[in-house]
Order: sequence, then structure tokens, then C-alpha cells
Amino acid sequence: MRVVHTVAEMVSAQREAARPLGLVPTMGALHDGHLSLVRRARGESATVVASIFVNPTQFGPQEDLRAYPRTLERDLALLEKGGADLVFTPQQEDMYPSGFDTWVEVGRLAHRLEGESRPGHFRGVATVVAKLFNIVRPERAYFGQKDAQQVQVIRQLNADLNLGVQVVVAPTVREPDGLAMSSRNVFLSPQERQAAPVLHRSLSLAERMHSQKERNAANIKEAMGRLLQTEPLARLEYVSIATPETLEEMEVIQGPALVSLAVRMGKTRLIDNILLGAQGP
Ligand code: PAF
Repeated sequence: MRVVHTVAEMVSAQREAARPLGLVPTMGALHDGHLSLVRRARGESATVVASIFVNPTQFGPQEDLRAYPRTLERDLALLEKGGADLVFTPQQEDMYPSGFDTWVEVGRLAHRLEGESRPGHFRGVATVVAKLFNIVRPERAYFGQKDAQQVQVIRQLNADLNLGVQVVVAPTVREPDGLAMSSRNVFLSPQERQAAPVLHRSLSLAERMHSQKERNAANIKEAMGRLLQTEPLARLEYVSIATPETLEEMEVIQGPALVSLAVRMGKTRLIDNILLGAQGP
């Protein structure tokens, strides 16, 4: 496994790489969710590239950029074991040199849900993903369903800017108690960690109600909210039942629906989702 630290090195490495090339973009602090993406890429690509870059432009002023976990040595060992061929770990000044002044702004999709709570977040994500696609030139790029809105934003940007990358989405990987794996889970105190599976329990409740033919979105959201309230450490930010592609809220569930929620546990913000009435990624 080769580790490249600069954009110039990455560009020349990808030019020489065997194709198809699969890219797994990450911000490091890897967990089994990331590694499932690497494994999937390994099975479908001649060259697997993972990027590790804690992208400053997707963090808001009040967010945890400085505290974001950085575990490079461990990440490299995991990627080597997982079968990556190349790891791209650029410096901030190389990705955003002084004078950098071009942004990728996705419209409506990026302003709902997470976009409302985290203004500017998806502008940062879309910009860095467009840059990564242009630098690495993958045939396929791999993302987790856990960040369902991010996936839709990336699909939109990929289609609108004719980037020509196949966006592959892999299922959310969960801890045995249902908590979705996330690099931010390390911030949870032991009590918060114990409380955190309440997100998954409330998504499972939505799934149960849907399977019992409940189609009124408000009824499901209300029941989820009540369940979340039974956990005093959890503060619900939003719960949404929306059309998976457009993220428009549904009143009556017809066809596939994305149920998603954001919850604060102390200082940590957790998100999770499930798809109803669909095959899933
Ligand atoms: O999902 C993430 O880790 C990040 O948002 C991504 C896609 C690597 C862009 O920085």
C-alpha cells in the first residue's frame, strides 16, 4: 500500500493506476463502516484508493473541527489490512491553497434536514468531493447509507456537473446494540453511549408501524418522538419522513420513504436513518 501526501503525487499515481479505480473518501478515524466500503471497493476495482482528509470547509464555526478524532497510524494499518492500494492524505494548504475561491453549491437538497441545522456543511462536502473526484478520477466512489442526505447531494453534484463517477452506497454498519457506527461515537460519555441506541430503537419503531400498514407520517414521527423522550440524555433535533431522492417531507407514505433523525447527546450530535419500503442500498 502506497501513501501519497500531495495532490500532484495523487494525480500522477492515478494516471498510472490499473482501472477500474474505486475511491473511498473518508475523514479518517476509521471504523467498520468505512472498512465495509473498502472491502466492497476491493471486490469491484483493480485499484482501491482511500482518502483521509478532515475537510475544514464542511465544519461550521461552532463545530468540532479541532476535536475531530485523528488516528492516522491506526487508519493506515486498517486500510492496509482491508486491501487498499493507495491512500491519499493531503494537507489543508494543498487542498485549499491561499486564494482558493470556488465553491460547489448544491441547491434545494442541500438546504433541507442537515442543511438547516448545519448551514454551509454541504457546500463544503460538495466542494471537497468534486475536488477528490477530479484529483483521483475514480470510476466508482463508495459512501455509506448512514449519511443518506450526503449521498443524495453527491449524486446530484455528480449528475449536474457530469463528473461521470458511479456512486455506490453501502448499508449502515451497526454496533451489536443497533448504534450506527460513526467516528463521532468516541465523544459519547459512557452514559451517553448507553443511551445512544435509542435512535435505532425509534427507527425500528417506524419500521414496525410501517409494516403494520401505518401510512400517516405524522403518526409515525409522533411515536418516534415519544420513544426518544423516554431517554433523558437525548435531545431530538429533527425527525423526518421524506422521499429518498428529493428529501421532500411526506404526509402520507406512498412508495419508498427515508426516515431520518438527528439527536444531540450532550455535546455530540448523532444522525441515523432507515429506508422504508425499499430494497436498500
Ligand atoms: O462522509 C465523510 O466522511 C465526509 O463527508 C467526506 C465524504 C469524506 C467528505 O469530506
